[in-house]
Amino acid sequence: MRLSVNIDHVATLRNARGGHFPDPVDAARLCMASGADGITIHLREDRRHIRDRDLERVSAEIPCRLNFEMAATEEMVAMAERLRPQACCIVPEKRQELTTEGGLDVLTAGHFLAEAIARLNAAGIETSLFIEADAAPIEAALGLGAQAIELHTGTYAEGPPEAREGQLARIRAAAALAEKLGLHCHAGHGLTYDTVGPIAAIPQIIEVSIGHFLISTSIFEGLPTAIARMKAIIAARRP
Ligand code: PXP
Repeated sequence: MRLSVNIDHVATLRNARGGHFPDPVDAARLCMASGADGITIHLREDRRHIRDRDLERVSAEIPCRLNFEMAATEEMVAMAERLRPQACCIVPEKRQELTTEGGLDVLTAGHFLAEAIARLNAAGIETSLFIEADAAPIEAALGLGAQAIELHTGTYAEGPPEAREGQLARIRAAAALAEKLGLHCHAGHGLTYDTVGPIAAIPQIIEVSIGHFLISTSIFEGLPTAIARMKAIIAARRP
């Protein structure tokens, strides 16, 4: 299972003072040197954390599997076509939200989503859609031409502990369906040391994307330790 580290909140911290540190590019370099399997970056429309230059520098300077998280807009698709990251994950984006709040509404998505996927595919980029762990959006993702899906784990990880088993059953069924349909299955949102284990135990999920917890805990432990601990928990639970 790949661990893709989302470094958006290194930029959040930098932007708090408007200066140059901490530098997300240094963070990406350190993550890769510490055992991360890839870097995820979400360039939001409002540029609240990552800026264009951060994405361009990581893309140019850091040898890694770069997963560019983006809304399906002309601006972002054009950026992906120019930078050609290994992967793009299309997410819904609302201006007022604190973070991505839910999966993409693939069922009623406008015409541009299909065009965005087609253009990313034509650029040789592995395209995934961030969706809820339900059959209908998974089948719709396949129909739209995505090669991968990222299952939203927020409801599982951030919901009440007594609801976790039910949410896990839902994620397991979704991962099995993705495999049956030939889609690569990724997962992410809200995962921590405490909640990543049961996700790592699902054999069809081949990548997790983790950001806020890893960057937060690295304030106390340092990024290399936080990444090593997360990787060890994943490895211990991998079937
Ligand atoms: N996957 C997607 C699609 C996301 O939007 C985010 C948050 O940016 C993550 C994973 C990572 O979530 P978290 O920061 O809670 O680990």
